Amino acid sequence: AAVVEHTFHVGNLTVRRLCRSKVITAVNDRYPGPTIDVHEGDTLVVNVINDSPYNITIHWHGIFQILSAWADGPNMITQCPIRPGKSYIYKFTVTGQEGTLWWHAHASLLRATVYGALLIRPRQGTQGYPFHQPDKEVPILLGEWWNPNLVDVANQAFLTGGTPNVSDAYTINGKPGDLYPCSKKHTYKLEVEEGKTYLLRIINAALDNQLFFKIAGHHFTVVAADASYTKPYKTDVIVIAPGQTVDALMVADAAPARYYMAALPYISTPNPPPPRPAFDNTTTTGIVQYKSALPSLHPVMPTMPSFFDNAVAFRFFSKLTALCRTEDRTVPLHVDERMFITVGLGLVACQPTQSLCNQTQGALAASMNNVSFQFPTTMSLLEAHFKGVKGVYTADFPHKPPVFFDFTNASVNAVPALQPLMFTSQATKVKKIKYNATVEMVLQDTAILGIESHPMHLHGFDFFVVAQGFGNYDQAAAEKSYNLVDPQMRNTISVPTGGWAVIRFIANNPGVWIMHCHLDAHLSLGLATAFEVENGPTPESTLPPPPPDFPTC
Ligand code: C2O
Repeated sequence: AAVVEHTFHVGNLTVRRLCRSKVITAVNDRYPGPTIDVHEGDTLVVNVINDSPYNITIHWHGIFQILSAWADGPNMITQCPIRPGKSYIYKFTVTGQEGTLWWHAHASLLRATVYGALLIRPRQGTQGYPFHQPDKEVPILLGEWWNPNLVDVANQAFLTGGTPNVSDAYTINGKPGDLYPCSKKHTYKLEVEEGKTYLLRIINAALDNQLFFKIAGHHFTVVAADASYTKPYKTDVIVIAPGQTVDALMVADAAPARYYMAALPYISTPNPPPPRPAFDNTTTTGIVQYKSALPSLHPVMPTMPSFFDNAVAFRFFSKLTALCRTEDRTVPLHVDERMFITVGLGLVACQPTQSLCNQTQGALAASMNNVSFQFPTTMSLLEAHFKGVKGVYTADFPHKPPVFFDFTNASVNAVPALQPLMFTSQATKVKKIKYNATVEMVLQDTAILGIESHPMHLHGFDFFVVAQGFGNYDQAAAEKSYNLVDPQMRNTISVPTGGWAVIRFIANNPGVWIMHCHLDAHLSLGLATAFEVENGPTPESTLPPPPPDFPTC
């Protein structure tokens, strides 16, 4: 195994998009940022030098970080931010996972422009991929673009007590595509040759939207998701939540021509407003160009699902199964810790500093088990855990919500007795877990302020997706549908709209690990909690001390 070294200079970069120039925060003057390419077993050393005017951290999304929790990166969870002018070396070994992951900023809204692909190839000297060797590999990073400065966008959301303004464009590899104004030059192009096989490594780096992705005239065979191999799954549409990745093979077997690839949002709220046309400024496009086709040909458009197609989304999310190759990826049958966790939106009283907040309604908040997570301000959770500092957090995150609002009932507004449920508490509560315990979590969407699909991401672990469904979770009925044979492994699960998902993981990695909604707007509203995993009995199961350059507050 090798040591792979990178230097990330985080700084200002001027780019032109949507008819205007804008200064963004970027890594090594590139947007999206550099691709990291490693083999399983390699050690990655990334020196992050912050030349930007903002506090920043980098998170290696989906990396297990075995005994290296100090390198995980979420701001105020595992570290204090790297201040302007300072640096921090993230060092960790990539073991036990292969496929596509990514890295992104984990402070404020900076991940909108500070992100890149992290490719993990099979260990050198092994058999290689468990599928047809592709002729070419192609990272496809789906993102979002804002015309205004992102720090202003975040501040505005805070002042109003609402969610940030929606973005101005979706992007493929940083480019909106030619359906947007002034974007002909900013259209991603993929040149293909007839008969060749392409491995598309698709990443949803968008801040606040799940996406549908298609390529006209072509099918995909999904072979991995979230850097875990899946049984080959054929589909013509990819559904991908923020944080997730999908590896899909595409054979260039269509008539030699030009084809659009397109991504548009999957909007999971029911009772949709009238559908917009399939192609408007919510659709990002790229062009698949056959080498032998005339570049003047007009590209063929794919037929996209409607914005609100919960059925297409659920089919994709629930049909994937694991390609069971190794012993260590079998689902645990015994459960040590059972938790029932609601995820949803709620309200809190406006703070005095939220000058534009609606005083009678309150500010928007989001919660798990009716606790809206408050980020600590003096010290990261991991540092407090390691040093035994009291007062930074409490270890009493509830196993169950205090009351669970049945989403099949009428709106909470119509039932006076339920109205207090709209208000969530705010605290920094974590759940303590014994080393190597098996945790089962039922994640249940609530209907307190409408229902919606939340992409829940767990740091430090992959989990087995044992079951998922719509409505209220009913253990007896749900258990009949548990897949304990070949459930897919994920680091991010899109909990069905007005529904539930059951996940299991083994807490075999000491540290403090955040779990949160990967819609950035919901993370900042408190849709998060953290797991404090104790040390095991041996030095091999004990978290070592932080590195010497570890950023403190
Ligand atoms: Cu990709 Cu905590 O995030």
